Amino acid sequence: MATRSSTLRIGVVGYGHLGQYLVERIIKDGAGLGLTLAFAWNRNPHKLKGLVPDHLILEDLSAFKTRVCEVIVEVCHPQIVKDFGVQFLSHAHFLVGSPSALCDPELNQQLRQAASLHGNTLYIPSGALWGGQDIQRLNDSGALTGVFVRMSKHPSCFRLTEDTLSDWTEGEGRRVLFRGSVAELCPLAPNNVNTMAAVAVAAGTLGFPGVIGEIVSDTALRDYHVVEVEVSGAHGFSVHTVRRNPAQLGAVTGSATYNSFWHSLLGELNASGQRWCHGRFLFL
Ligand SMILES: NC(=O)c1ccc[n+]([C@@H]2O[C@H](COP(=O)([O-])OP(=O)(O)OC[C@H]3O[C@@H](n4cnc5c(N)ncnc54)[C@H](O)[C@@H]3O)[C@@H](O)[C@H]2O)c1
Repeated sequence: MATRSSTLRIGVVGYGHLGQYLVERIIKDGAGLGLTLAFAWNRNPHKLKGLVPDHLILEDLSAFKTRVCEVIVEVCHPQIVKDFGVQFLSHAHFLVGSPSALCDPELNQQLRQAASLHGNTLYIPSGALWGGQDIQRLNDSGALTGVFVRMSKHPSCFRLTEDTLSDWTEGEGRRVLFRGSVAELCPLAPNNVNTMAAVAVAAGTLGFPGVIGEIVSDTALRDYHVVEVEVSGAHGFSVHTVRRNPAQLGAVTGSATYNSFWHSLLGELNASGQRWCHGRFLFL
């Protein structure tokens, strides 16, 4: 079990946009907030040289247990969650930045079991999701009946595993790329549907097969991504949120999401004293 020191030592796995942002902020602002960097890893370690102190660069991810840390943050790729998630949880709390990995029911179960066994917690950052904790509360009360999530972005912001968008042209407007369960959607767009995956974790009674998602390419969305969530509950209850998330052309991640991840880490700092949350998913 990860024990609590006065500072929370964080290992960051992945040094893309989110990883760089988090590492920089931990180095710059962490000391005053009780956060410190335990290690940073990237599949190409040269990217870290000169930006991260040498002794904090982890060259080989399978050596992560040589670094004492309370939390490991994955901001890399769902494959890393699959390959290392269970091992991470044997060593530390684990913040899953790519929750689309959890659409695999077997992996989902293995991670929950590992968290329980080792007394560690799986954290799901809210990322670009608005109202995740409210959805989780409605779910836990038994009153949640349905959730629909639509994510609309400029076509240059999608990373699809199939060839659906290779023919897009500037000015073509709106095109629905897929509508179906989040379980079906995650393998098609693993880097684009983390927000939907986070919804599916929050709405655990519906889960990945029961939450419905839609991805829309829209050439008019040059400056932001749009995330719409429609939640329905017992006795006619409903909530509809529309989030406009400023984003550069071609960016997978909206800029407000960086700050959201940072606040999830600060939330972990507060939540890490709550022993009741071990072994389950906790929204931050
Ligand atoms: N939870 C959310 O709301 C949310 C929001 C945005 C992004 N994300 C996810 O977080 C992760 C990081 O996002 P980002 O914007 O920093 O992406 P990015 O593309 O900028 O960075 C990803 C990094 O991981 C590395 N990488 C990619 N595939 C890999 C693999 N198979 N094995 C090892 N390394 C690999 C890349 O080289 C890069 O350094 C992505 O999986 C993304 O989908 C989640």
